[in-house]
Amino acid sequence: MKAIAVIGSPRVKGNTERLAQQALDAIAAEEIETEIIRLAGLTIDPCNACNACRRDPGGCTIQDDFQAVYSKMVEADGIILASPVYFGSATANMKALMDRAGYVGRHDGDRFVRKVGGPMVVARRAGHNFTFAQLMFWFYICGFVIPGSTYWTIGFGRERGQVDEDSEALRTATNFGKNMAWLLKSLGGGK
Ligand SMILES: Cc1cc2nc3c(=O)[nH]c(=O)nc-3n(C[C@H](O)[C@H](O)[C@H](O)COP(=O)(O)O)c2cc1C
Repeated sequence: MKAIAVIGSPRVKGNTERLAQQALDAIAAEEIETEIIRLAGLTIDPCNACNACRRDPGGCTIQDDFQAVYSKMVEADGIILASPVYFGSATANMKALMDRAGYVGRHDGDRFVRKVGGPMVVARRAGHNFTFAQLMFWFYICGFVIPGSTYWTIGFGRERGQVDEDSEALRTATNFGKNMAWLLKSLGGGK
């Protein structure tokens, strides 16, 4: 059984990664394999609406780093999508991945149905709710089973590492990770 966290920040080891790692640590404590996948430095272009994935299941005509990340997502039983807030929404990096993985996955035998997953969001000051909902919409339409926590999995921080000062965010991330591990085990890894 494996859970991954895809980090939508272009900043390596930033606040988003820190918060997601907190959840992964709780999952790993339940002896489930975990991995961080950083979109930083990868090229994932936006969907170009060629619709090739509808004709050729699993296919995508844009050859870039998407295929490697998509394979990791397909292989995982649990997926966290974690994004900083950029101008009130998820990063462009994360949105491109969501659009392509969502469409390719849907036409590739509903690849994400009954996997376990959920969103995590970090911002300096505002935009958490919208971005959280934006990511949640993706999980819902893709058929994920979504664990809750003791608050929404959001954190506050601007400079690298500042989210460490948000103790409630860390606690919420840990509780989310525990619930995700419980759900993964209860579902026996999902579909
Ligand atoms: C281009 C850009 C846009 C941002 N927009 C917002 C915003 O709308 N609301 C906010 O509270 N913080 C905003 N921020 C701050 C980041 O969300 C914050 O620094 C966050 O901790 C970055 O996460 P990271 O360390 O994982 O990269 C923005 C940062 C950048 C670089």
